[in-house]
Amino acid sequence: MIMLTKIVRLIKSLPYIIGTKNYNVRVSVYARLIIKGKILVKSYLSISDFSFVEIRKDSFFIVDGFTTRPNTKINISNGGILTIGVNTYLESFSTILCKGKITIGNNVAIAQNVVIVDYNHSIGRKSGCYFRKIDEIGEIFIGNNVWIGTGAKILMNVTIGDGAIIGANSVVTKDVPQGKIYVGIPAKEINEIK
Ligand SMILES: CC(C)(COP(=O)(O)OP(=O)(O)OC[C@H]1O[C@@H](n2cnc3c(N)ncnc32)[C@H](O)[C@@H]1OP(=O)(O)O)[C@@H](O)C(=O)NCCC(=O)NCCS
Repeated sequence: MIMLTKIVRLIKSLPYIIGTKNYNVRVSVYARLIIKGKILVKSYLSISDFSFVEIRKDSFFIVDGFTTRPNTKINISNGGILTIGVNTYLESFSTILCKGKITIGNNVAIAQNVVIVDYNHSIGRKSGCYFRKIDEIGEIFIGNNVWIGTGAKILMNVTIGDGAIIGANSVVTKDVPQGKIYVGIPAKEINEIK
């Protein structure tokens, strides 16, 4: 029988990581953390197996205490700023794509297969080739203690208030007030937290 020991790299001295006192960055040997922009870690960042986190040139990742489960993807580019609070989790197969500004609060549970994306391709030009140009870049704000159900999609220019729940497979296109439960495509209120 072979015992596999999980090996984790402890990174303290990468030139582009600005850490506050006692910060801790753990990247699985099976994961990738590519930093061409900047990253500020206030307490901890833990990147699990087969996850891919890329901070491209001029972009910024500000993280307080954040854990990814295996097989997640985060891409910050185009000068984008992704800010994540403390005790927030990104479950497996979820993706965050940031070219503008995405802010995620404290104690946020992001389930499996969620996509959070703050940009659109050009629309309204019939002859246009959609994948060439990104010309709508926006913002997403997710408050504290939010639960985003599996398979949900969070699109640009929405705010999800504190304590809200987004049901499985929902597509959020408009603001969700705090403490409300939204489901469906497009996501609509079905309930509120009592
Ligand atoms: C939204 C959710 C939290 C339930 O909230 P709730 O207030 O208890 O809602 P209810 O179960 O009372 O359902 C109310 C109505 O919404 C519908 N509904 C519930 N969840 C829905 C969803 N994700 N999409 C569409 N409709 C949904 C129900 O079928 C019900 O419809 P009806 O009134 O026609 O019968 C739950 O359904 C859900 O989606 N959880 C996410 C699960 C998940 O991601 N787990 C992984 C965790 S890491």
